Amino acid sequence: MNEKIIDGKKVRKEKELKLQEKVMTLKEKLTLVVISIAFDEASQVYIRQKELLAKKIGYNFINLHFDTILEEDLIKEIEKLNEDKNITGIIVQLPLPSYLNKERILNSISPLKDVDGLTNTNFLKLTKKEPSLIPCTPKGIISLLDYYKIALKEKRVVIVGRSELVGLPLFHLLLNKDATVTLCHSKTKNLKQYTKLADILIVAVGKKDLITEDMVKDGVIIIDVGINRVDGKLYGDVDSACFKKARLMTPVPGGVGPMTVISLMENVYLAKKLQEDKLEK
Ligand SMILES: NC(=O)c1ccc[n+]([C@@H]2O[C@H](COP(=O)([O-])OP(=O)(O)OC[C@H]3O[C@@H](n4cnc5c(N)ncnc54)[C@H](OP(=O)(O)O)[C@@H]3O)[C@@H](O)[C@H]2O)c1
Repeated sequence: MNEKIIDGKKVRKEKELKLQEKVMTLKEKLTLVVISIAFDEASQVYIRQKELLAKKIGYNFINLHFDTILEEDLIKEIEKLNEDKNITGIIVQLPLPSYLNKERILNSISPLKDVDGLTNTNFLKLTKKEPSLIPCTPKGIISLLDYYKIALKEKRVVIVGRSELVGLPLFHLLLNKDATVTLCHSKTKNLKQYTKLADILIVAVGKKDLITEDMVKDGVIIIDVGINRVDGKLYGDVDSACFKKARLMTPVPGGVGPMTVISLMENVYLAKKLQEDKLEK
C-alpha cells in the first residue's frame, strides 16, 4: 500500500469492530429508521449500504418508504417516530422530491434522534462546542485526521465547498480545534491563491480534477470528499497527480466514503447515550 494513502477502509474496519463491541454490551437493540420518498437509484444504493452496516453492527434497520406523501403527513410520521421509545435514530434520505420543504422536514426530527446531524438545533450546538450529533461526512473526516495524528492547532486548513452537509459544519469543527480555516466556494476568485497556502486541503465540490498539481504546495495533506462518476468509474475532485506533492492524501474510492457510513453508525450509538442523559436530568 502506498504509504501516502489515508486509508479510510482500514480506519472504518477498526471503528466497526470497536462499535460492535460496545453495541454488544447494550441491554436493548437500537433501531435506525431511514425514511425515503420516491425512487432515486443512487439513494437506493446508499440505503442498502446503511442497512448492511447497521445489521452488521447489531442494530435493527427499518426503511420507511413512500412513493409519494404530503408534507403534513410526512411530518406526522416523523413526529410519531420521535415519540416512539423503540426508535433510536431517524434519517430522511436526501435528495427529497422538490415538492417537499427539506428544511421544514429535517427540522421536524427530534435533535436527539437526528443521526445525520442536519437539524438547526444540532448545527447550533456544533458551533457552540456543545455535545451534539454531527453530520456524518465531517465527523468521518475528523476521525481520519485524528487516526493519522494530523495536528490541527496552528495549521492552515483550506476547505473548498460550503454545503450544509460537508463544508460548513467542517469549518466549525476545525475552528473548534484551533485550526486557522478558510472556506472557499463557487464565488471565490482565484481559488489557487488559497489552495496553495493550505497545510491541509479539504475539497468537497463534485467536480473532477478541480484541484490540479499546480494548486497545491509540497507536503500538503489532502482530503478529497468529491465523488464523480465518469464512464462507470469513480473519481474525486483532486487530480491524482497531486499525490506526488502530497504528504498524505485520501484516495477515491476508499478514503472519505467508508468513513461517512461508519460515522452514521457511531451517531446511532451516541444518540442513545444522549437520550439516556436527557432522561437522567
Ligand atoms: N464521500 C462521501 O461520503 C461524500 C459525502 C457527501 C458528499 N460527497 C461528495 O462531495 C461532493 C460535494 O458534496 P456536497 O453535498 O457538499 O455538494 P453541494 O451541496 O453541491 O456543494 C458543493 C459546494 O461546492 C462549491 N463549488 C461549486 N463549484 C465550485 C468551484 N468551481 N470552485 C469552488 N467551489 C465550488 C459550491 O459553492 P456555492 O455554495 O457557492 O454554490 C458548494 O458550496 C460531491 O461530489 C458529493 O458526491 C461525498
